[in-house]
Parts: sequence; C-alpha cells; structure tokens
Amino acid sequence: MSTLPEIYAAKIAAGTLQADPAQEAILPQFERIRAELLKPVKKGWFRKATPEPVQGLYIWGGVGRGKSMLMDLFVDSLDVPVRRVHFHAFMQEIHEAMHKARKDGVADAIQPVAHAVSDSVRVLAFDEMQITDITDAMIVGRLFEHLFAAGTVVVTTSNRIPDNLYKDGLNRQLFLPFIDLIKQQMRVWELVSPTDYRQDRLSGNQVYFVQAGTEARAQITSIWQDLTGGDAEPLVLTVKGRQVELPAFRNGIARASFFDLCGKMLGPGDYLTIANSVKVLILEDIPQLSRHNFNEAKRFVTLIDALYEAKVRLICSARAEPEMLYVEGEGTFEFERTASRLREMQDADWGQDA
Ligand SMILES: Nc1ncnc2c1ncn2[C@@H]1O[C@H](COP(=O)(O)OP(=O)(O)OP(=O)(O)O)[C@@H](O)[C@H]1O
Ligand SMILES: [Mg+2]
Repeated sequence: MSTLPEIYAAKIAAGTLQADPAQEAILPQFERIRAELLKPVKKGWFRKATPEPVQGLYIWGGVGRGKSMLMDLFVDSLDVPVRRVHFHAFMQEIHEAMHKARKDGVADAIQPVAHAVSDSVRVLAFDEMQITDITDAMIVGRLFEHLFAAGTVVVTTSNRIPDNLYKDGLNRQLFLPFIDLIKQQMRVWELVSPTDYRQDRLSGNQVYFVQAGTEARAQITSIWQDLTGGDAEPLVLTVKGRQVELPAFRNGIARASFFDLCGKMLGPGDYLTIANSVKVLILEDIPQLSRHNFNEAKRFVTLIDALYEAKVRLICSARAEPEMLYVEGEGTFEFERTASRLREMQDADWGQDA
C-alpha cells in the first residue's frame, strides 16, 4: 500500500502532475486519516463495535486547484470500504430512501436511512459539497450527526468555506448547527494553490471541433479522459420538481450530446440549473441548424446564453463553424450573438476568475 506523498511524488516524476507546494501541504492530512483508519476497532460487550470518531477533512478553495484530484487519489489508495460520490447525487439518494421509508410507515425516516449508509462504508468522500436546497439544508445536520456518531469518516471538497454554506438560504438559522458540526468533526483546509490547472489544461487546446463523427469524438474523448480520468456517473438535477439528466458527469465536467440538451423539451430554468451545476460542458454533435429544427436552435441559443453568463467552459463538436450553424430560418439575427459568444468562449482565458 502506498501513501499519498509516495503516489503524488510518483505522478510528478512521471510528469502527469506538476509539483505544487499547496497540494503537498495537504497530503499529511490524508495520511492522518489513513493512520486512524488502521487502528483496531474496540469491541463493545453488548453492542456492535463502533469505531472511535476520526476527524474528517473538508477541503475548500477555488476552481481547478486539484481538490477532487487529491481526494480521488486518496480514495483509490484506501483499502477500507469507501464510497466516492457527488454530494448532490448522494443527497438525492437520501431523499429517495427517506421517501420510501416513510411510505413503509417509518416515522423518523432519517434514522434507518443514515444507518444504512454508515453500515455500508467506513469512509464517505463527497465531491462538490454545496447546499442550495432547503430540503437538503433541513436534514444534513441530523444525517451527518448520525454518520459521525457511527464512526463514518467524511472527506469532502467544496468551493465554499463552511461558514458560507447555504449562504442567504431560507431558514438559515436552523442550518447553523450543521456548520458547527462540520467544524468540530472535520479538519477544514483551504487549498490555496495559485494555479487553476483545469484552465491550464484547456488553454491553448482546441475546444471547438468542426468535424463530425468519429474523429471529433476521439479528440473529445481524450480531453474528457484528461480532465476526469474517465469514470462518470449521470447527474440528475431537479428543476421545479422535474428531473433533468446530464448523462455523464465527473469532477464538475459534464458530457452530453446536442440531442440530450437541445433535442428535448428543456427551458431556460433547466439551462440555468445546468450552467450553475457544471464547470465545463462537453457538448457533442451540434448539427447544422435550419428552419426544420427551429426549436432545437432556439434552445441552443438559450443554453449558450446560460453557459456564457455562468462562465462555463464549453468544448464542442459541430457540423459547421459558429457563424455557419444557423443561417436560414427565424431568429438568424439573434443567432449572431450566439455565434459571437461561441467564438469568445474559445478564447484561451475564457471563464477565468480574474
Ligand atoms: N498539480 C497538478 N498538476 C497538473 N494537473 C493538475 C494538478 N492538480 C490538478 N490537476 C488537474 O487539473 C484539473 C482540475 O483539478 P480538480 O478537478 O481536482 O480541481 P478542483 O479543485 O476539484 O476544482 P473544482 O473546485 O472546480 O471542482 C484536473 O484535470 C486535474 O487532474
Ligand atoms: Mg472538484
């Protein structure tokens, strides 16, 4: 079994990572957790043994700093039962399980649901913890209280310092004990690297491919591999009670086809939610648009506007250059803005913080 400093050093030696003191500084935190996990669990007399609580790790900081990358290296190097999951996807599972428990007549549904989670893993690794939804805000406190009490170790990445979670949210005073719990049970660590590595990896690379079919797909797949490591799961977003699915998602990067996002009856609210949920969107197979697919073209305009406002990085393959995508039919004038935005979004420094 290798330790994280060893794994990290090997990646630097191999040239797959650049040495970064801010990243290196966090590695001992992971090793502290590993050492705690190796301690034997004391057996109680009458009840199932509960491991001693281990302080988890809450890594926060700006985009592209390597939070998810480091957490993934740690998860892959563990040999205790561990689950790595996007925080939003996890909360959706919790809501579904609670819904089912209530249907089965359980009054306090969170109890059995939290039990099932803590029974199944020793370490939970959450990517992109953020809380925007009141239904999440109102249950996370009790859920995490149970997980911590059961000895589940939580590691998480976030763009926000705990004090800013659910900022300006409804009934926020009821949420504050959760922030205290996090600060108590997890070591909070800001990853202050000066480098946005995601931006580094993308800038200077082609992000708009005008070939159709297999050639563009192969190039885009290699970008996808580079950015995500390849594993993906769907991300289901809830918009006004409806579900909108991004078919492949990992580390803030979503990959979808034009048809997935513009061929279905999605509207501005859906596109806003998508734009606010991803950092990079890979959109494949944008067809030649015309009056025959006016609705798709209109949705595409709305999607690009939402991505543009949210400063999402866009990588796409299309049948034509932006200006030639939609040249006949209603709304061609408005499409000029979309074409211009598509151009601007290809700039090397598009979407940067500064
Ligand atoms: N030291 C490094 N050298 C080279 N590439 C790196 C380094 N650290 C991270 N990367 C790469 O940069 C990209 C972004 O990293 P990562 O996804 O971990 O950022 P993040 O901090 O989780 O960002 P976000 O807050 O947006 O989720 C990934 O492709 C990752 O492999
Ligand atoms: Mg991340």
